[in-house]
Amino acid sequence: MSKKLTIGLFGFGVVGQGLYDIIKTKNLNIEIKKIAIKDAGKERSLPASYFTTDKDELLNDPEINTIIELINDTEAAFEIASRALSSGKSVVSASKKMIALHLEELLKLQDQYDTSLLYEGAVCGSIPIIRNLEEYYDNELLHSICGIFNGSSNYILSKGFLEGMDYATALKQAQDLGFAETDPTMDVGGYDAKFKLIIAAAHAYGVVVEPEAVLNLGIENLAADDIQYAREKGLKIKLVPVAKELDDEHVALFVMPKLVTPDEFLYNVEYEYNGVIVQAAFADQQFFFGKGAGGHPTGSAVLSDVAALRYDYQYEYKKLRTNKGLKFTNDIELCVYLRYEDDELVEALEFVEIKERYYSGSYKYIIGKLKLSKLIDNKQRISDQKAFLAFADQLTGVSLVSAK
Ligand SMILES: NC(=O)c1ccc[n+]([C@@H]2O[C@H](COP(=O)([O-])OP(=O)(O)OC[C@H]3O[C@@H](n4cnc5c(N)ncnc54)[C@H](OP(=O)(O)O)[C@@H]3O)[C@@H](O)[C@H]2O)c1
Repeated sequence: MSKKLTIGLFGFGVVGQGLYDIIKTKNLNIEIKKIAIKDAGKERSLPASYFTTDKDELLNDPEINTIIELINDTEAAFEIASRALSSGKSVVSASKKMIALHLEELLKLQDQYDTSLLYEGAVCGSIPIIRNLEEYYDNELLHSICGIFNGSSNYILSKGFLEGMDYATALKQAQDLGFAETDPTMDVGGYDAKFKLIIAAAHAYGVVVEPEAVLNLGIENLAADDIQYAREKGLKIKLVPVAKELDDEHVALFVMPKLVTPDEFLYNVEYEYNGVIVQAAFADQQFFFGKGAGGHPTGSAVLSDVAALRYDYQYEYKKLRTNKGLKFTNDIELCVYLRYEDDELVEALEFVEIKERYYSGSYKYIIGKLKLSKLIDNKQRISDQKAFLAFADQLTGVSLVSAK
């Protein structure tokens, strides 16, 4: 028998409103008792009696047994989630940044108070990847997980590649359509994809990794020369997070633009769509595709979590609890395409092997193998020099290798 959920909803923006639209079409024994928002003066699509700006009205209400947290303030979201879990309420959240930054503490709170925190909507919107990693692949050895985890940057890349639209106009469109995070650097800088990758890796590999330990390079420095290079070679550029098991003891994580060949699943993932590729030992390669952002797609993932709570569903974090020493590492080498201006950058990156080097006027690029740690050391320099770097494993036929 499913239990009745009495809900306190935090946030009535893109996702909160999207969730509400879906819930009202269903008969799921769910009641939204109160909605907390920030700005009391904003016009709403529901009567004013639904809303409050006082979080305690929801968190201290003993009738509310479930909190849905859909706000755009990371630290306030953590306070809401941790207070709710500590008082025995179940929580559903879509705040990937909050979850990735506080995963360790959130795991402890769930254990300590035997409460449930679900967050399918936080990773790739409508694609049900967390529950699949948690349940379906719980006994599978996963060689890698990668994909397109950020709809907004993918939208900008598609607009550039397919329609020749400039970066600023495409970003504005993504924001107007509700795909983009409030702070666009989260999307285009690869931070949002990194937070999602970290959450996915906890379920896929049983590792909890601090976001600041993982390299993220974004698409901010993408230039017309890079697009032209990719086009001439029949490639596309996508922003791709990667989690890869190197051996029994090490898993590497990073987020970078990637030169994608037409035979890769990600080649045809366009606009706000996301794709997740799971490379498993026995199931082999599998591909999940769907809308990664927007009110209704994300709302549908949130609703799926809410519906699961009616049956007391909890993540078991099976791989985390049975982890026999698999650790995160940045000790890998990888092949990259680097467009640069200053030769000093190439020297600082200490390429281990150079496959191709090209100069024509102001356009200079190099393709070669280097240590991920060198990219981490020089992240600021890459950004300052407006250099563009893309992971190019398929292109060079050199697969990702452990540095040891
Ligand atoms: N948009 C997407 O496609 C998408 C997809 C996946 C996950 N997410 C995540 O979902 C969450 C919500 O995103 P969104 O796009 O719906 O954001 P949004 O449209 O900016 O809406 C944010 C909502 O949070 C409310 N709020 C902010 N601070 C609050 C506080 N301290 N207490 C109570 N309410 C507060 C705002 O109130 P006011 O209405 O009064 O301003 C607003 O209703 C974020 O964590 C985001 O990363 C979004």
